[in-house]
Amino acid sequence: MKEISKILLDWYSANKRELPWRETTDPYRIWISEIILQQTRIVQGYEYFLKFIERFPNVQELAKADEDEVLKYWQGLGYYSRARNLHIAAKSIANRETFPVTYEEVRSLKGVGDYTAAAICSIAYGLPYAVVDGNVYRVISRLFGIDTPIDSGKGKKLFAELAQSIMCKYSPGIYNQAIMDFGAIQCTPQKPLCHQCPLAEKCYAYHYSKQNTLPVKQHHTKIKKRYFNYIDVHAGIYTFINKREKDDIWKNLYELPLIETTEEIDEATFYSLPEFQALIKTNEKPLLRCVCKGIKHILSHRIIYANFYEVILPEDTSSFSSYQRIKRIDLDSYPVSRLVNLYFEKK
Ligand code: ADE
Repeated sequence: MKEISKILLDWYSANKRELPWRETTDPYRIWISEIILQQTRIVQGYEYFLKFIERFPNVQELAKADEDEVLKYWQGLGYYSRARNLHIAAKSIANRETFPVTYEEVRSLKGVGDYTAAAICSIAYGLPYAVVDGNVYRVISRLFGIDTPIDSGKGKKLFAELAQSIMCKYSPGIYNQAIMDFGAIQCTPQKPLCHQCPLAEKCYAYHYSKQNTLPVKQHHTKIKKRYFNYIDVHAGIYTFINKREKDDIWKNLYELPLIETTEEIDEATFYSLPEFQALIKTNEKPLLRCVCKGIKHILSHRIIYANFYEVILPEDTSSFSSYQRIKRIDLDSYPVSRLVNLYFEKK
């Protein structure tokens, strides 16, 4: 009987996606591609990868760049800790002679977990480490009929062992990409293509019609609502911005002055907020208007409801003195969240 790994490899040679990071064994490029592709679909990651590699073609170039610039290249991709960690790790690698070559060394890089270490080591070095990502969980849970939750300690161990046991030891890099592509293209979350699936005959979920119930997750992500009120100051050619430095979403990105509230508020309530009043010097009377209301911005664990207010002040204003004053035309050079960028684009 044909082995599962052989079926996956045959499927891959007929169906694989041609992707720029598949034409190299450079561990740096593979590392960048794998970090970009975490939580990002391939179609979206593709362009980011090309631009990132063009600007930072090797680990030294990345290490010596400014974090702001690295974040600018990441702008819109989300999960910005990936970019911050890449940069930290690049600086640690740049002090060495070569890119780390063992699984343990790769795994110890900032931001590199089991998945990424296995992907880099198998694809770049041909080391026999099986990847386990969302695609692999889906393929294995359906194929073997495993309903142990994938987000439990027991499930993680079990799936890792199974993934390792079915991996092709002769070409682990190609095999790992084969099972991930298979999950993404064939064994999809909704409406998998079972009627033209080379594994259907062996598949538990197919025989018992369990495709929609596998894999099992025990915790469902709780979505938190947040209410952001941004202030777009026009002080002649200047505006004000702030770098988000707290441990929160969008850490180290820039944004317009922001007042967060616990609920949606109307325009009049916003102008009378003490936090807003405190930003305006008492002798100044700004022109105020709400320019963008009730924007709903969906992130993985949060929904942000945002309003944008325009505040017109004299060019030499002493309001907003705790913020960074910049020329409006320079706004584009700062890394900002997709939400703030969408606002600028709409203006
Ligand atoms: N998802 C993340 N990395 C991947 C890769 N190298 N091939 C297919 N899917 C992926």
